[in-house]
Amino acid sequence: MKTIIEPFRIKSVEPIRMTTRAQREKYIRNAHYNLFGLKSDQVLIDLLTDSGTSAMSSDQWAAIQRGDESYAGSESYFRFYEAVTAIMPFKHVIPTHQGRAAEKILFSVISGENKKIPNNTHFDTTRANIEYTGATAVDLVIEEGKKPQSIHPFKGNMDAKALRKFIDDVGPKSIPCVMLTLTNNSGGGQPVSMENIKEIRQICKKYKLPLIFDACRFAENAYFIKIREDGYSNKSIKEICKEMFSLADGCTMSAKKDALVNIGGFLCLNDDDWAAKSRNLLILTEGFPTYGGLAGRDLDAIAVGLHEILEEDYLHYRIRSTEYLGEKINAAGVPIVLPVGGHAVYIDAKEMLPHIPVAEFPGQALAIELYLAGGIRGCEIGSVMFGESAQMELVRLAIPRRVYTQSHVDYVIEVIIDVFKRRNELKGVRIVYQPEVLRHFTCHFDFVSHN
Ligand code: F0G
Repeated sequence: MKTIIEPFRIKSVEPIRMTTRAQREKYIRNAHYNLFGLKSDQVLIDLLTDSGTSAMSSDQWAAIQRGDESYAGSESYFRFYEAVTAIMPFKHVIPTHQGRAAEKILFSVISGENKKIPNNTHFDTTRANIEYTGATAVDLVIEEGKKPQSIHPFKGNMDAKALRKFIDDVGPKSIPCVMLTLTNNSGGGQPVSMENIKEIRQICKKYKLPLIFDACRFAENAYFIKIREDGYSNKSIKEICKEMFSLADGCTMSAKKDALVNIGGFLCLNDDDWAAKSRNLLILTEGFPTYGGLAGRDLDAIAVGLHEILEEDYLHYRIRSTEYLGEKINAAGVPIVLPVGGHAVYIDAKEMLPHIPVAEFPGQALAIELYLAGGIRGCEIGSVMFGESAQMELVRLAIPRRVYTQSHVDYVIEVIIDVFKRRNELKGVRIVYQPEVLRHFTCHFDFVSHN
């Protein structure tokens, strides 16, 4: 098999800065050992998130110039609307400044006290926006999806039996909608199969419940369906996407992921009443319905991005390059969530650092050392982020779209393997300051010394 190359050449470059370990020791100490506290020029390879970090194409930059900045009825909106509905055939398309704004509006309209909303796994902003209305967010991913090492082609699937039981237990009246997150970010970037989407759709139909997708990484999910699910290998990504979305009643979308832009999102709905209420709230919080919280040029960049994301050469390179990183470090013995997901590799820090107890945050200890060793910024997803409800101690290395080349990835692999070989030297950390909510963004750490 030939090397899978980046399906683009580079027209505009952005320098990244080499630093010494001594410099990085100073930077991370000044950031109180919290990687969110670093300045971006202190980071060499930034794998903190794949959100809003994509490189836009020359066509997207050209589209930016076409942006129509009219307050109402902007042409950019209609180009955006056409691009969205060509893939996601919903009746109403409501632009927002990013995914969580779409969530905030949707749940303000449909959620509230005593309501319950099931999902495969809620992303943290989705969960927070649901809980903010007084409702409960419930995760019903299949058992395999909870175990880092268990192999399953669609670990993001929802447990259909558990969903049926859940609906029977709490009653359909208390459930405003059922959600599916494609791909399942909090569960390791794992896809959901078409078969599972259809099964969940059937259950929703039986109980007359709307099905809403969290569609951030819909194209990556469609690509996994194409290569892993029977009957889809000859279908185009666009056909698969249209089939997926034809099974839903709406979606929330962060365009910062699979629309290849740096800012933007939208809410799609079929229900006229929900859409009217959402637009009223939109005017209150985001802007007029033909621009949401965005500039006209942002809508044009999304329209082009939604077209480019469906290219198979791109998706092949995207999924393979993430897998390449995971495969190489796993072959050297580094424990990771398997199979590798679409947008990120998740290192199992608990398994890799058994000498560091969970109370001393092995994920954070590893994230700090990856920065010190090679200027790589990843993100702890474990007890720092979720406190006592954490199920795993992971470090997520999220891959920005079209940004880093294979030699960058090879460098990351070398650094991780070097850290893995010296893993017994790593020390745990403790939290010395924390805010009341969402502590992972701003808390301070120090190393634990066992004298
Ligand atoms: N849903 C999922 C599955 C996400 O991954 C995100 C963002 C959102 C919703 C919210 O979208 O950021 O545009 O408001 N995930 C980013 C990440 C932040 O790093 O995984 P947003």
